Amino acid sequence: MALPISYDYGYLAPDVDLEEVKAFQADVDLAHKKVTQGGGLGDDFLGWVDPGKIVSPDEVAKIKTLAAQIRDDSDVLVSIGIGGSYLGARAVIEALGEGDGPDVLFSGNSLSAHDQKKTLKALDGKKFSINAISKSGTTTEPAVAFRLFRDLLEQTAGKEEAKKRIVATTDANKGALRKFAEEEGYATLNIADDVGGRYSVLSPVGLLPIAVAGIDIDALLSGAKDVAAATATADVTKNPAYFYAAARNLLYRKGYSTEIFASFEPRLHYIAEWWKQLTGESEGKSHIGLFPASVDLTTDLHSMGQWIQEGRRNIIETFVIIDGGEPDLKVPSADNDLDGLNYLQGRPVSDVNKAAYTATSLAHRDGGVPNGTIHLETLDAYSLGALIYFYERAIGVSGYLMGINPFNQPGVEAYKTNMFALLGKPKFEQATEDVKARLAAQPKDTTVKF
Ligand code: PA5
Repeated sequence: MALPISYDYGYLAPDVDLEEVKAFQADVDLAHKKVTQGGGLGDDFLGWVDPGKIVSPDEVAKIKTLAAQIRDDSDVLVSIGIGGSYLGARAVIEALGEGDGPDVLFSGNSLSAHDQKKTLKALDGKKFSINAISKSGTTTEPAVAFRLFRDLLEQTAGKEEAKKRIVATTDANKGALRKFAEEEGYATLNIADDVGGRYSVLSPVGLLPIAVAGIDIDALLSGAKDVAAATATADVTKNPAYFYAAARNLLYRKGYSTEIFASFEPRLHYIAEWWKQLTGESEGKSHIGLFPASVDLTTDLHSMGQWIQEGRRNIIETFVIIDGGEPDLKVPSADNDLDGLNYLQGRPVSDVNKAAYTATSLAHRDGGVPNGTIHLETLDAYSLGALIYFYERAIGVSGYLMGINPFNQPGVEAYKTNMFALLGKPKFEQATEDVKARLAAQPKDTTVKF
């Protein structure tokens, strides 16, 4: 079966060519084995590899029932989570949401009082439900937001009704959110132990908000399952996800240090954000890793374009291009040609966008930026599920090719320890002493003022 996703490596050469990627096959085979059979670092987090198992049919049915209930009785769903408990759902909803059903608002993804007040205000006079999403159940940002929005829900709907409008998506057995949900009698969805946050969009973590937004979660899962089946081969000439993984590793070894996700479709903005987390948290450790960056084109050709074309030559670029299915909108004709645009009259705007992509990939290659392109036939739930799984599989394999554990994120703890120490969290007393001593030892008067 032909899949709606492919990878064009034409503009990687001369930095990397087909023969070089083929010569890397033995390493790819080993990484493939680690992802599919275990035996690599972090192999207790491979629950995402089979999208048919990440969520059971019973859970899918439960998600649909909860989503239908929320769609029926709420104007808004407040989806509370951060990182892997946030970005996937937002990415899919921003890409495919058509405003059919309740608005999905996101909170708990920062500690900005301004943002939280704004979202609280947006709920004025609205009937809303809450989906609190946290695997650990202890993450500060969503925990603070959950208190704020739960308070508002209890005040406006009453405590008993509020209980019916809260769904907690969390670990099946442990963590503060699990305990809380059980005590209060909230509906719950489980996050499997062997699925890390950034690989969890196709689990209940992402699927409930996505279903509430009216997006076909069966089609999303089908796209992922079909790509999973197609990635059973490790052959780089038949597996575009592995070709991409191999090529970016070879380029990294040649000194390229940044990969840019570039799309000509604003609906993919949050897919790029999701990809940055997937890639950054998976590979950025032991002082290695390609730095994941992103641009929205053509918008950023008028801001970042100069840097990409002529700045320091340490970047590679991956375009994500939607080949078809765009709305029919043509450049209008005009009696006079005062704007000089009549050469485009009657042409679809999507064709102009395609020309911009073709021109940019060529110009960037000429400017010394090796670039490849992921082509999606169209942008729908099926092809987006395919793209999500393509990236998950590619980055899992890519992480093993880099020689690190792609499934942990030890570095994320450093700021948390300092923050908990500063805020006086119980059991952080020693850390509080240490951080206070560190701050006291800092040189004073380091601020430059007018
Ligand atoms: O990918 C990850 O593991 C992280 O981004 C987590 O998803 C994020 O820190 C949120 O964690 P939790 O779901 O435990 O609140």
